Amino acid sequence: MRVLATGGAGYIGSHVVAALLEAGHEATVVDNFSNSSPLAVASIAELCGHRPQCVELDLLDVDALEALLQGGDFDGVIHLAGLKAVGESVAQPLRYYEANLCGSLNLCRAMQRVGLRRLVFSSSATVYGEPQSVPVTEDAPTGATNPYGWSKYMVEQLLRDIATADAGWHTALLRYFNPVGAHPSGRLGEETRGEAANLMPRLAQVATGRLPNATIYGDDYPTPDGTGIRDYIHVWDLAIAHVRALEVLAGDTALSAGVHTWNLGTGRGYSVREVIAAFEQACSRSLPQQVLPRRPGDIAAIYADPSRAERDLGWRAKRDLVQMAQDHWRWQQGHPAGYEDG
Ligand code: WQD
Repeated sequence: MRVLATGGAGYIGSHVVAALLEAGHEATVVDNFSNSSPLAVASIAELCGHRPQCVELDLLDVDALEALLQGGDFDGVIHLAGLKAVGESVAQPLRYYEANLCGSLNLCRAMQRVGLRRLVFSSSATVYGEPQSVPVTEDAPTGATNPYGWSKYMVEQLLRDIATADAGWHTALLRYFNPVGAHPSGRLGEETRGEAANLMPRLAQVATGRLPNATIYGDDYPTPDGTGIRDYIHVWDLAIAHVRALEVLAGDTALSAGVHTWNLGTGRGYSVREVIAAFEQACSRSLPQQVLPRRPGDIAAIYADPSRAERDLGWRAKRDLVQMAQDHWRWQQGHPAGYEDG
């Protein structure tokens, strides 16, 4: 299939584009490079032996977006472009709703106008807020706790509503848990500018000396070791799930029509201390640790029930926490400051 990947130069996006090419599909990257590097596309080309077309474009530029879709003869869109830092979204809600909600609305309107209605959307487990029970199924109550999560939820609702109005839409809502790691080759990874916010990228910065300590935000949670539990999923497993979801939408089964929601997680939760231990094993050094108060807005524990994706997509996450840490560390070692210095 000919696939348009919005945000295709980003951390998740670059892995999705590589997985598309590896599966024999054609991919066009659209990115505004606000949180990514054009060098990621060159790395994809090196890795896959085939350079995807790349168009620098912001989804807020409706005319350029429509012109691209008009002339692109695409079979589907994987929509990953968006802002994703929870803390930043609390400080800058307008920026987040404009990028995530308005960007998605422009994309859907442009797709509708050219008659393209097959879409895989990058959603997030953040739409569940604090779960009432774990593991979390796709039918669990939703209720975000920050503008980032609400923006993802609103786009999901937008997509459900347009599919109700027009049965021609084939849509997959992929709710990511915690993506970590990097392609095993060490050629693709997260472009972390400045101090990282998420746990594993921060541990990588401690291991390279860019941060003094591994900071544990709260060890008084109601969990076995007192630290927060999350469902970490290897970004390459996550990328492969996107290809499978698009192929299912393009198929001719009951899953090919309407809107389908799939949790993308491993079904296994790991605590902060377990992640630190796995990373120490991966980088063969002990990381100095510091316990700090809980981070505002953090929840104690969430992990996925991934059985629906396993059943419907014929997909399951294969890589374990140590492999996630090893692959993350390999990328960090080769690219301490992202693609610029690789
Ligand atoms: C994981 C755990 C922290 C850093 C966020 C977004 C989510 C998704 C992934 C986009 C928590 C603890 C963290 C540190 C720590 N992004 N922690 N020390 O908050 O679960 O999810 O990123 O889709 O939408 O919400 O990820 O990696 O920031 O935190 O103790 O230095 O590690 O308290 O328990 P989070 P995270």
